[in-house]
Amino acid sequence: MTDADSAEVVRQRCHDFTVMHTEVPIYARIVAGMAADDDAIALLRHAAKGQARPVLLLAALHELTMRHPETPAAAWFLPGAAGDGDPWPDVRRSVEDHWDELRSVVATRTTQTNEVNRATYVRAMLSRAAADLPDVPLTVVELGASAGFLLGFDGYRVRVGDVTVGPSGSLVECVAENRGAPVRLDLPPIAARVGIDANPVGPHDDAALRWLRACIWPEMPGRLERFDAAVAHLRNDPPHVVRADMVDGLAPVIAERRAAGSHLVVFSSWALTYVARARRTGVADVLAEAATDGPVSWVTAEPPGCVPGLPDQDVLDGDDRLTATVVGARSWRDGREMPAQVWGTVHGHGNWIDFTR
Ligand SMILES: C[S@@+](CC[C@H](N)C(=O)[O-])C[C@H]1O[C@@H](n2cnc3c(N)ncnc32)[C@H](O)[C@@H]1O
Repeated sequence: MTDADSAEVVRQRCHDFTVMHTEVPIYARIVAGMAADDDAIALLRHAAKGQARPVLLLAALHELTMRHPETPAAAWFLPGAAGDGDPWPDVRRSVEDHWDELRSVVATRTTQTNEVNRATYVRAMLSRAAADLPDVPLTVVELGASAGFLLGFDGYRVRVGDVTVGPSGSLVECVAENRGAPVRLDLPPIAARVGIDANPVGPHDDAALRWLRACIWPEMPGRLERFDAAVAHLRNDPPHVVRADMVDGLAPVIAERRAAGSHLVVFSSWALTYVARARRTGVADVLAEAATDGPVSWVTAEPPGCVPGLPDQDVLDGDDRLTATVVGARSWRDGREMPAQVWGTVHGHGNWIDFTR
């Protein structure tokens, strides 16, 4: 264990969580309990380097309650959980009863957010990328697709402001407020779609899906319900997700999967940011090469400064620099790269869209 994860540092991370996340009062009270409990801090310090954060133990506890609904902590982790009082005595009992299981999960897992509601901005991004080629079918490739939830974008009912698309009977409903210019959600036909992920999650990998679910905060209205609906959708119609590095694996996936005569649209949502900065230009190199065979667009929803060649610094000011998700595109037409475009910002979970330009 390094000093970077000393008990003092971990306790401070817990205090920071309680101050920053008043929107989830039960989670904030659980984390306040962790901060004051030497055993809970010690448990969290079994995490991999840099991962000893309260969200990891929250996810481990959430996952535990899914496997053991009888454990005292479970009542505090139900979808849409609400309630006054101090959850820590119940949570503490579950920690004691399941110490070894929790230690093993904390030591081996890391948290990650898979948010189906991001399909709101994915749909808006794809529509905008296709606006100049409305009749050309799309080959859609997602980088960092995980289980492939966002690749189901056209199977979901999606509403952005007063524009609604998608099958009216869909199990999955995604909703965003429109805070900016009008957005389009219409799409050309989808000729092919595929995801790439270093660790794809299969539609019947119950343990891995349970962990992705556990990483969602139950107090946030509708999120767990939407996730469960998306899992059912995924099992009916699983997208193909290739296990590969998104930079090294991109060219082979394009060679194998690109539909003849289609517009290749590659997108990423909170995924390119996990690739080392120096390697990210490799995506553009592959796409420039692919542009000799037809139109190509690379659309991204990533934190500011993440995407090489996207001049996104002037779209943000103040606090936005820390919290925003920036949406933009690089594109190639007739074999030549067009000027990069920054379209605006979106909420990190797709709750609002603000296409300013
Ligand atoms: C935070 S999740 C985002 C999932 C989804 N795109 C979304 O927005 O809900 C990031 C995903 O990127 C994947 N990933 C990270 N680095 C990768 C790489 N070098 N190549 C392929 N996938 C990678 C992870 O395995 C994970 O599934």
